[in-house]
Parts: sequence; C-alpha cells; structure tokens
Amino acid sequence: MLASKFFPLFASLVASATIGERSIKSNVNIYAYGVGINGLLVYVNSNATAVIADNTTALDQGLNNITWSIDTTGTKPWNVTVTESSSTGQFYIVPTSSAYQKAGFTVNSTAAPTGAAKTGFVLYGSTVEYATETTYESQFYAQNSTTGVWSLMWNTDSEAQDGGVPVVLKTSAPVEPTVD
Ligand SMILES: *[C@@H]1O[C@H](CO)[C@@H](O)[C@H](O)[C@H]1NC(C)=O
Ligand SMILES: *[C@@H]1O[C@H](CO)[C@@H](O)[C@H](O)[C@H]1NC(C)=O
Ligand SMILES: *[C@@H]1O[C@H](CO)[C@@H](O)[C@H](O)[C@H]1NC(C)=O
Ligand SMILES: *[C@@H]1O[C@H](CO)[C@@H](O)[C@H](O)[C@H]1NC(C)=O
Ligand SMILES: *[C@@H]1O[C@H](CO)[C@@H](O)[C@H](O)[C@H]1NC(C)=O
Ligand SMILES: *[C@@H]1O[C@H](CO)[C@@H](O)[C@H](O)[C@H]1NC(C)=O
Repeated sequence: MLASKFFPLFASLVASATIGERSIKSNVNIYAYGVGINGLLVYVNSNATAVIADNTTALDQGLNNITWSIDTTGTKPWNVTVTESSSTGQFYIVPTSSAYQKAGFTVNSTAAPTGAAKTGFVLYGSTVEYATETTYESQFYAQNSTTGVWSLMWNTDSEAQDGGVPVVLKTSAPVEPTVD
C-alpha cells in the first residue's frame, strides 16, 4: 500500500546530469496525488502546517496559496512564499520519529519541530522524494478531517493509520502535466 520507492542514489544523479537542468527552480506548484486526491494543491494553513484541499475547500477554509523555490538536488532548503502575505518560509518534514508527523513551513518565524529536516528533498522526474544516505523515500500521507482539509504528514514507520491515505507529491499539474 505504501507509496514508497527506493532508487539507488547514483541512478538519479546520472539522470539529472543527463537532462542537464539547473537545480534551482522557482515559481513551482506542488500537487498531491493519492486515492481520492487527484492532484490537489498543497497549501499552508494558519498554523503554518502543510495541508491539501480542493480549490473550493481551500477558499472556504481560508487556506493560503504558496509558490515554491526548490533545489532538485536536495542540497538547499525548499522555500515557499505565501501568495497573500508575501511571507516566506522553508518546508520541513519530521523523519526522526516513528509516528505520523505533520509537515509544515517556517513561515512567520514558526520554528520547525525538533528533529525536522529542511534539506534532502529532491525531484525524481516530477516526484518529490526525500534522500537519505542510501535511498530516496516518499512516505507522505494525507490525514483527513471533518472540514475536507487534509493534513500532509510524513510517516516514517510505514504503518497505516485510520483516515490516512498515502500520497505522492509532484510538480506536475493534474490535467495538463508540465513538461520538465
Ligand atoms: C491550529 O492549532 C491549534 C492548536 O493545536 C488547533 O486547535 C487548531 O485547530 C489549528 N488550526 C488549524 C487551522 O488547523
Ligand atoms: C503570516 O503573517 C501574515 C501577516 O501577519 C498573515 O497575513 C498570514 O496569515 C500569516 N500566515 C501564516 C501561515 O501564519
Ligand atoms: C479556483 O476557484 C476560483 C473561484 O471559483 C476560480 O477563479 C479559479 O480558477 C479556481 N482555480 C483552480 C486552480 O481551479
Ligand atoms: C490559489 O491559486 C489558484 C491559482 O491562481 C487560484 O485558482 C485559487 O483560487 C487560489 N486559492 C486560494 C485558496 O486562494
Ligand atoms: C532558500 O532560502 C535559503 C535561505 O535564504 C537559501 O540559502 C536557499 O538557497 C534557498 N533555497 C532555494 C531552493 O532557493
Ligand atoms: C477519516 O477516514 C476514516 C477512515 O476512512 C473514517 O473512519 C473517518 O470517519 C474519517 N474522518 C473524518 C473526520 O472524515
């Protein structure tokens, strides 16, 4: 069930070297894909956590749009700018705990939790993965709620959770995929 993938690090380095792209990309949008989540944008909520919602729900719940500046090689933090306020922050996950942990952003001087990782995010094709010393991992989960807003979580231990759906994050939009 888990949408994890494990690739040798060298294969991806060779792939990106072959394409010969610059590693920093700005004005990127990131979309979540999973069962019942067909390419929904990632937003920031008022607590500076990362959430997923459809367009209507996002507007109803006052979620803020973000644009991303990413380093496809995982060396630099992935920065976001909040469209409505121009606040900036860095994306983080918490890969050091065995439990589900919310992903979020250090916008408005929000501190990242203990054990958070702000570097190591890479693009494999158009898929966002987290590079450890030996593998690339995608262990993002979406946790449902009564409002229709899903919380974006990182789940280190691969255990399923009620209301949790494995999701893959991509830089490509659902209807018309962007050309890398
Ligand atoms: C923000 O965090 C507080 C405290 O944990 C919580 O009660 C509230 O529901 C959260 N707000 C959102 C929009 O998630
Ligand atoms: C950040 O602060 C700005 C300005 O006060 C506010 O408009 C915005 O909602 C805040 N965003 C988050 C995610 O806390
Ligand atoms: C979201 O909804 C607004 C208001 O209905 C609409 O103008 C906009 O085009 C929609 N955006 C997307 C990405 O669907
Ligand atoms: C986010 O941006 C998209 C594209 O510009 C827009 O269609 C949508 O209405 C915005 N959503 C919110 C919650 O502001
Ligand atoms: C994100 O911001 C930090 C601090 O300003 C900067 O060092 C880093 O290069 C930025 N990352 C990207 C992908 O632009
Ligand atoms: C979340 O999903 C679980 C499992 O499908 C379901 O039991 C629960 O009622 C859902 N919770 C909400 C708040 O929708």
